[in-house]
Amino acid sequence: MKVLITGHMGLIGSRFAKCLAENPRYELYGIDDLSGGLSENKTPEVTSFNFDLADQGKVNQAFEEIKPDYVYHFAAYAAEGLSPYIRNYNYTNNLLASVNVINACINNDVKKIIFTSSMAVMGHGNPPFKESDPVRPDDPYGNAKAAVETDLALAKKHFGLDYTIVRPHNVIGIGQNLFDRYRNVIGIFIRQLITGKVLTIYGDGNQKRAFSDVHYILDPLESLMEKGSGEIYNLGADTPYTINEVAEMVLEAGRAHGYSSKIVHLEERQEVKYAYCDHAKAKKDLGFYDATHIQYTIDEMIEWALELKFREVESIGYEVNKRMYSFWK
Ligand SMILES: NC(=O)c1ccc[n+]([C@@H]2O[C@H](COP(=O)([O-])OP(=O)(O)OC[C@H]3O[C@@H](n4cnc5c(N)ncnc54)[C@H](O)[C@@H]3O)[C@@H](O)[C@H]2O)c1
Repeated sequence: MKVLITGHMGLIGSRFAKCLAENPRYELYGIDDLSGGLSENKTPEVTSFNFDLADQGKVNQAFEEIKPDYVYHFAAYAAEGLSPYIRNYNYTNNLLASVNVINACINNDVKKIIFTSSMAVMGHGNPPFKESDPVRPDDPYGNAKAAVETDLALAKKHFGLDYTIVRPHNVIGIGQNLFDRYRNVIGIFIRQLITGKVLTIYGDGNQKRAFSDVHYILDPLESLMEKGSGEIYNLGADTPYTINEVAEMVLEAGRAHGYSSKIVHLEERQEVKYAYCDHAKAKKDLGFYDATHIQYTIDEMIEWALELKFREVESIGYEVNKRMYSFWK
């Protein structure tokens, strides 16, 4: 069975590839341009293609060569807070690239596409978010994900392309990019701690998120080759923590390795204050269970990070500079 994973050098893609690689029934392929992933995340069993999914010709060529049975489309640039300042980049990576993948799935008779959307499609909503709640994105990132969700339903209607949508949230674990200044709050805290910087929190730090260890979403993702036709599933942990609490956990884990730092609060960012999801549907249909022990995952990530080659943290070229936060100027 040929399985193609886009974004296989990223957190979810690499951990999922390693999970599938344990089963010889899968022939694995991956597409990634390394714009957001880590070269260390490469899974040896994956035949890898390195290009930008926004290039329609290359997407078509790769699909014709691979002829995948199943496609897991994980590739995206998931920097929600930054997305109003990089509209073009956001829609190119998260919408146009997805459209190229959907076209290629239709033209190559792919059995099913599994797409990672986001709870960002819910905007402020009414947490805990349910899959049936109205979609009201509040930023270009959520808007791109919402558009792909709708387009998948249309592709099924017009061409019979089977799909499942997953909305993971606040996924953490070994393999996460720690060197992006715009996303992955726990990854940023870990990098700041190890490089002797202060841990920076936007606003009062009372924002709440339910962080999920990537480990627990892998089996449910695999089961979607068989299950969940045309369905949407939230995947992630049930228990929300404040950003202040997780910053303290990173400091606590760092102490065991001789690292110390302090927390500094910066300008408040425009973001949803309380965002977490209901997972009853995934528990019922996919046997999903989450036993994330967030302090344990943070410890594990720090140990992994200490072995990692450290990179320069680069700024992205902003398309809009108006109302830019002081900390991103
Ligand atoms: N991690 C989370 O908390 C979370 C939450 C909700 C949704 N998601 C979604 O899950 C998916 C995977 O997330 P992740 O955390 O593994 O992200 P990630 O950034 O770790 O991985 C994404 C991978 O896609 C690649 N990529 C990005 N744009 C590309 C392009 N145009 N062409 C080719 N490759 C490209 C990157 O190089 C990277 O390796 C994304 O679609 C994301 O929006 C993630």
